[in-house]
Amino acid sequence: MAEISSPTPHADAHHLSPVQLPGDRQLVLRVMPMPADANGNGDIFGGWIMAQVDLAGAVLPARIAKGRIATVAVNQFVFKQAVSVGDLLSFYAKVERIGTTSITVHVEVYAERNPANLQVVKVTEANLTYVAIDMQGQPRKIPKD
Ligand SMILES: CC(C)(COP(=O)(O)OP(=O)(O)OC[C@H]1O[C@@H](n2cnc3c(N)ncnc32)[C@H](O)[C@@H]1OP(=O)(O)O)[C@@H](O)C(=O)NCCC(=O)NCCS
Repeated sequence: MAEISSPTPHADAHHLSPVQLPGDRQLVLRVMPMPADANGNGDIFGGWIMAQVDLAGAVLPARIAKGRIATVAVNQFVFKQAVSVGDLLSFYAKVERIGTTSITVHVEVYAERNPANLQVVKVTEANLTYVAIDMQGQPRKIPKD
């Protein structure tokens, strides 16, 4: 089920977060898709969004792992709303689990559209797991601090 919110016209223009989210989620990426990312209908390719989610999801694990990481698994993507050229996409991430060599994050993607009458729409979310790897590409332990 998509979440749609319509901030009031008097919403604080300096408030950069499009929706109120729990403080344990961090804004890790904001990007606007370009015409090159769209299909003939003007909608954005799902594969482009998935690539952005992978990039966004890697931000917190890369910090925690303090070194190289690789994506080992992504759970299902469900695209709840089409994304259009000109939508501003915001990616919010939350660390769900830190294992021995892996870190799982939850990423949510929101689109801001129609600035004159702003709408914020949740377009997708996914869980992604990243593994800390050494120079040989083998799993290594997540540093404790
Ligand atoms: C990432 C990689 C180094 C892990 O090596 P591996 O031998 O599969 O590692 P392991 O089986 O020991 O698992 C390592 C960690 O990943 C987790 N993991 C493995 N498969 C998983 C899956 N399908 N879902 C969630 N977690 C998974 C394990 O639970 C383990 O976590 P833990 O140490 O925190 O308990 C290896 O699979 C690889 O190189 N994959 C390709 C990565 C890549 O190129 N990604 C880009 C897209 S192609």
